[in-house]
Amino acid sequence: MSNPTTNPLRVGLRQERVISPQCLVIFGASGDLTHRKLIPALFQLFKQRRLPSEFAVIGCARRKWDDNEFRQKMENALSKDSKEDQNLLKDFLKLLFYQSVDLQDPEGVINLATRLEELDRIKATHSNKTFYLSISPSFYGPACNALREAGLLSDIKRSRLVIEKPFGRDYSSAQILNQLVQSCCQESQVFRIDHYLGKETVQNILVMRFANAIFEPIWNRNYISSIQITAAETVGVEERAGYYESSGALRDMVQNHLTQMLAITTMEPPGHFDPEAIRNEKAKVLQAARLADEIKPWNCCIRGQYSKGGTQNQPLLGYQEEPGVNPDSTTETYVATKLFIDNWRWQGVPFYLRTGKRLAKRLSEVVLTFREAPVHLFDAAGGSPTSNQLILRIQPNEGADFRFEVKSPGSGMRSRPVEMEFSYEESFGEPSDEGYVRLLADAMLGDPTLFTRSDEVEAAWRLYTPILELIEDSPWQLPLYPYESRTWGPAEADALLAKDELLWRRP
Ligand code: BG6
Repeated sequence: MSNPTTNPLRVGLRQERVISPQCLVIFGASGDLTHRKLIPALFQLFKQRRLPSEFAVIGCARRKWDDNEFRQKMENALSKDSKEDQNLLKDFLKLLFYQSVDLQDPEGVINLATRLEELDRIKATHSNKTFYLSISPSFYGPACNALREAGLLSDIKRSRLVIEKPFGRDYSSAQILNQLVQSCCQESQVFRIDHYLGKETVQNILVMRFANAIFEPIWNRNYISSIQITAAETVGVEERAGYYESSGALRDMVQNHLTQMLAITTMEPPGHFDPEAIRNEKAKVLQAARLADEIKPWNCCIRGQYSKGGTQNQPLLGYQEEPGVNPDSTTETYVATKLFIDNWRWQGVPFYLRTGKRLAKRLSEVVLTFREAPVHLFDAAGGSPTSNQLILRIQPNEGADFRFEVKSPGSGMRSRPVEMEFSYEESFGEPSDEGYVRLLADAMLGDPTLFTRSDEVEAAWRLYTPILELIEDSPWQLPLYPYESRTWGPAEADALLAKDELLWRRP
């Protein structure tokens, strides 16, 4: 829409807050997330000069590495994709330290506490500590207990705990985990991370809704006929079979990322932009959400699993043939489901959520479809006028489109749909940071706005309980439909919408 080179908004756009001196402790430092996301995000913050000079990262895992080995691994991770500035990289690596810790061995955690004190003195980190749990979810409880016993969470103002998803496996395990975490520290110290909330485009849903006067009056059941939320991936399970086999798409994507997009799209306007005001509204709307058919979930939920596909030159394995996957696996790699929200704003509006691996395109978006014009005055190209749609493009090509009918040129009065487009890149001239950059900074700043509170996470699990129970108790009632890799999922998911005379968007 606007020219990036002349856009005055580009100058001084970033409003940065100052991160206090501190030590960031990453548990699971030898893992994939640390290599692929956390260290690159920290390096990005370093390049943006957003890390304080009194700062240290301690990587912790069971492996017997030393500081140099850890630095070497992280250097490899950072230099893998791009040519980084070598001097900057060297300075960044000096901030990294390593401590071998087995969370089940109290002595290991005591040694960590001693190392933290030592680094606190050397680096002047003012005893501020952020602990990041990037470990197997079954260790979240033991990790919290170990940190509490070592006295590392006792200073409410100086210690924080960041917990990766999935937080629990279902409603009751999430409740138990919440109780355990809250017995180790205060809720104000806990930052449950969902990296979708770190995406600029997800945060932008809030800004579009609440910084403009035109959207809110029509953002409800009177004007909106349905909403689709999609997170489609082209990748398969990659090297994560061990985790994914016990998770599946419902726990991996729907309960968290898709449900967070739903909450942001449907929450009431908060009284002010305050972390608790926002989280109150998100929790409230999730508590009002339910599956379209809680008694017979098979009427509103389709599960699928990818089978082989691709081309002759680039054949793709089916899920059951992937390394580490059980050849008889019944783990779903695709879910489509229909929900309602029982409140004044949304009563009767269907919400369709879908996610899958090895789909035709990588694409995350929220699509609001508006009600049809009450009277059709004009002939429409294609037979009938299309409904207006607002498409919020989360990724890739971050931005938004608004689709509406205009007059086709020429004599006569035929209408046809066009799209008005907003592109982040065009307007702001720079790609947005990865979600982890924003969220790591916010956790270290102590700003919980973009983190999930205990009641929200429980409400999100409660929403899918009928499906999870059915899969557990009588899985044959919720069949697993195969779909060819690099297609849009099983045909049964199309039928879910066809029953409502709708189609999934396939951009
Ligand atoms: C993660 C899931 O949380 O999100 C992965 O565990 C998934 O399975 C990833 O691939 C998708 O994130 P993004 O940001 O690439 O859409």
